[in-house]
Amino acid sequence: MEKQCVLTGITTTGTPHLGNYVGAIRPAIIASGDDSLDAYYFLADYHALIKSNDPQQVRQSSKEIAATWLALGLDTERAVFYRQSDVPEIMELTWVLNCSAAKGLMNRAHAYKAAVQANVEAGEDPDFGITMGLFSYPVLMAADILMFNARDIPVGKDQIQHVEMARDIAQRFNHHFGDVFTLPNAVVGDNVAVLLGLDGRKMSKSYGNTIPLFETEKRLQQSINKIKTNLLEPGEPKDADDSTVFQIWEAFATPEQSVEMRAAFAAGIGWGDAKKKLFELVNGELASARERYQQLMEDPAFIEEELQKGAVKARATAALTLQKVRDAVGISAVR
Ligand code: TRP
Repeated sequence: MEKQCVLTGITTTGTPHLGNYVGAIRPAIIASGDDSLDAYYFLADYHALIKSNDPQQVRQSSKEIAATWLALGLDTERAVFYRQSDVPEIMELTWVLNCSAAKGLMNRAHAYKAAVQANVEAGEDPDFGITMGLFSYPVLMAADILMFNARDIPVGKDQIQHVEMARDIAQRFNHHFGDVFTLPNAVVGDNVAVLLGLDGRKMSKSYGNTIPLFETEKRLQQSINKIKTNLLEPGEPKDADDSTVFQIWEAFATPEQSVEMRAAFAAGIGWGDAKKKLFELVNGELASARERYQQLMEDPAFIEEELQKGAVKARATAALTLQKVRDAVGISAVR
């Protein structure tokens, strides 16, 4: 039986934080150990150009994200780990898909609509500052997905619509040209925690409330100390379900450890104590990977070698798909 393919991309505009780790990276690395799956994980650096005009930021983020996945033990013999821009076939497929993507569908994309809305509210021209990159973002994402016949796409809620658009585009293509593409599905794990940030809102770069994944141990401790709490004193019972400290605890703890901590909250553990324990727990899970991360960041040649190995594997599959696509639409040698 052919293996199912799971695929996900990470836009290279930021530094991974604890929320990325718990919500995306850790489950993806676990999934890559499943023998019944082919895993494709990639750095979406062409997507980064839509959000960033800063080459240094895109370069640095690509390096940090690659080092993060490798440091956390992604097995690159099993998973195909590559950089989108190293697979030029994706760009070719993007054009072909542009010709199957309804403009009306793109008009409905949340990210594009939000940008238009912000312009209208600011009294600007509706298209002010909106690039074709932003507008056709879902088409590039469809190419990422359809290229590898991926079926399951683990994403955050904000990306569900994009995966549905990829599915629409694939359906329209298949309708015209035959059964070329597998129809993808967004997989939003309900057992995957959406981690809260320092201020108690969802941990997100755009809120500036993140705890970085691989800063120094000291920085990790400082960040955890900054988590917002209420003013209850040691000895006063605390509500675990209303606490960011407990929520992060649960994302790292065994079920038994969570039961214990819940009891400690009820018994009035002080915030200082609870944070100290949280730091020890999180640090315990991350310390050795952090060390590997720091070594990898000093060894860009090794990171690059890994990415190139991945690109060779990805391109082998991509070339086959692209050939099918070209044949299907009539782009082929004269015969
Ligand atoms: N757009 C996704 C994000 O910002 C990243 C991404 C690019 C992606 N291509 C993808 C995710 C393909 C899943 C599949 O989070």
